[in-house]
Amino acid sequence: MNLATSYLGLKLRNPLVASAGPMTQTAARIERLAEAGVGAVVLPSLFEEQIRAEADRDERLAEVGIDSFGEATSYLIDPDASIWPRHYLDLIERAARSGVPVVASLNGSTPGGWTDYARAMQDAGAAAIELNIYYLSSDPLIPGRDAEQRYVDVLSTVKAVVRIPVAVKLNPYFSSAGEMAVRLDRAGADGLVLFNRFMQTDINPQTLTVSTGFKLSSPAEATLARSWIARLRGQVSASLAASTGVETADDVAAYLLAGADVVMTTSALLRHGADHMAVLLGGLTAWMERKGFSSIGEFRGMLASAASTSQPDYGRRGYLSAVEQATRVYAPQ
Ligand SMILES: Cc1cc2nc3c(=O)[nH]c(=O)nc-3n(C[C@H](O)[C@H](O)[C@H](O)COP(=O)(O)O)c2cc1C
Repeated sequence: MNLATSYLGLKLRNPLVASAGPMTQTAARIERLAEAGVGAVVLPSLFEEQIRAEADRDERLAEVGIDSFGEATSYLIDPDASIWPRHYLDLIERAARSGVPVVASLNGSTPGGWTDYARAMQDAGAAAIELNIYYLSSDPLIPGRDAEQRYVDVLSTVKAVVRIPVAVKLNPYFSSAGEMAVRLDRAGADGLVLFNRFMQTDINPQTLTVSTGFKLSSPAEATLARSWIARLRGQVSASLAASTGVETADDVAAYLLAGADVVMTTSALLRHGADHMAVLLGGLTAWMERKGFSSIGEFRGMLASAASTSQPDYGRRGYLSAVEQATRVYAPQ
């Protein structure tokens, strides 16, 4: 059985990738994922704010002078806030020793100098960069085109400073998500990751407070990313990575059939542990055997809509028949 695949021009032993999150936060956890067979890992994001905070700290320390370093650190530095960027480069170096390709992740929203950090990530041994561009305008009058341009600008700035491939992790909240994907592809994105899940802000009416946080995903959430991957397959030259809602090997197979080059998971690994990677791989292999496939290439994109006009169920016809079916099933007699 040949599970080998290519993502961002990198050769992977299989298409299963641990996406950015707590499971890839330490070298020890990455080592366990490597033993469980993971094809590649994406490290948690380093935030623009963290990089800027470290640069500010260095500047203030330089002003205070090296002689008073000990005293300065005690009142100028929040140790937790400032340690992550340097620690991050160390994590890349140690993770790269696991033998699986390591993708470093940058989270930002402005094309400022912080993007130079991408080069430091490259020099530390990252095989690629994933850009998690998180831009939420608080100005309700900003035109959609201006908001979208941010994504292209951040990508172009990072592409200009590194030789390694750069993927963009997208969110689905564009009025024309497909066109955005094509624009990023043309602007040089080597890969598109569909989709990121935004932090959920909610209101608690009992405590009268606003809460923030991530919730783990469920497989039902995979359909949006899956149908966009199916539409984009054959329309962009960038690699396509599926992210969201992978719990079982069937979820992995469905994403590959839609046209994903790799399939990522975070929630399932948090729920079941690193060994779940081996469960997914075993399940995928068993599914391929049952279906008579001996390599990923034989079925990847088999049910993509762009490649085949015989898949009209992705379009309006699919919507109409879904409404009719749901009405038959759920409407009261
Ligand atoms: C606790 C937690 C932390 C995460 N941290 C990051 C992060 O640092 N950068 C990022 O791009 N995505 C982050 N994600 C999003 C995941 O990488 C992934 O895209 C998302 O959870 C959807 O995949 P899933 O359904 O397999 O969980 C995080 C998710 C969780 C649950």
